[in-house]
Amino acid sequence: MKRIFSGAQPTGNLHLGNYLGAIRNWVTLQQDFSDCVFCVVDQHAITLWQDPKELHRSIRELAAAYIAAGIDPRKSILFNQSAVPGHAQLAWVFNCVARIGWMNRMTQFKDKAGKNRENASVGLYVYPTLMAADILLYKATHVPVGEDQKQHLELTRDIAIKFNNDFGVDLFPVPEPLILGEATRVMSLRDGTKKMSKSDPSDYSRINLADDADAIAQKIRKARTDPDPLPEVVAGLANRPEADNLVTIFAALKGISKAAALADVGGQSFAVFKGMLTDLLVSELAPVSAEWRRLVADPAYIDSVLRDGAERASVLARPILDEVYDTVGFLRP
Ligand code: TRP
Repeated sequence: MKRIFSGAQPTGNLHLGNYLGAIRNWVTLQQDFSDCVFCVVDQHAITLWQDPKELHRSIRELAAAYIAAGIDPRKSILFNQSAVPGHAQLAWVFNCVARIGWMNRMTQFKDKAGKNRENASVGLYVYPTLMAADILLYKATHVPVGEDQKQHLELTRDIAIKFNNDFGVDLFPVPEPLILGEATRVMSLRDGTKKMSKSDPSDYSRINLADDADAIAQKIRKARTDPDPLPEVVAGLANRPEADNLVTIFAALKGISKAAALADVGGQSFAVFKGMLTDLLVSELAPVSAEWRRLVADPAYIDSVLRDGAERASVLARPILDEVYDTVGFLRP
């Protein structure tokens, strides 16, 4: 039996980069797999400081974005991590299975902790054991991962194997990475060498999920380009980061390769291409964005979806956590 687990952090303003790079993936998975558990990982979010009011809002906004993009909360399970205590409970057991040497090899910790490692939260250090708990609490067999999370999934596999070995059981499956098609990396509209980011001071650098058609049109019109027309082949995008980015966005929205996109629009001026891109963005994004805004305005509905998701997730998790507790030797009086 196959079970998919995936998680995403609720950390602020959603934009086109989140949509094309992450949110859409879950919708694709839901079409291909019948048993999907999707989690808004709020406990991971607080490994870096989050303003409580903003976190509260971001959890609902992210859940709303997934529903607006096409996650069917009756078909798949959609919930927030902190609502199912088993994640933290299993993470503790895994903190005692994983070795300090394993943690010390995690490159994301080094990146996120920066120079002042002594001052990073302990939670940031053990982030990967919580991620392993997310996955293994449901005995998930397949986990979609981007490049940046491969090492964490590798660690999850090590934890599953060591737990099974240490206790002489065959309790956890060793989860497989699901490599989704080439991940779409959307770059800033002002600087094609920087990732599109919620924290860029210029709002013209990104298309927000909340932007209306006028805002989208204006941002694409102002997007940085170079003087040449679009190339006919992908190689012609080398050293043209802004052109590359706009073609990437165009291709991703159409669900085609960059080569196929250039076969279509190669040779066009940016003035013409930007018009086509704007139309495409508006027609693809407007329905999602409108539905998202409608859902965000209805927190009671979002909460009811998350509550129902947490209940269904708990039904799956409880017997697995019981099995773990029995295996470890905990008394369940
Ligand atoms: N670490 C993931 C990220 O930042 C989020 C995450 C948490 C996750 N738990 C997970 C992803 C379990 C997949 C499976 O993108």
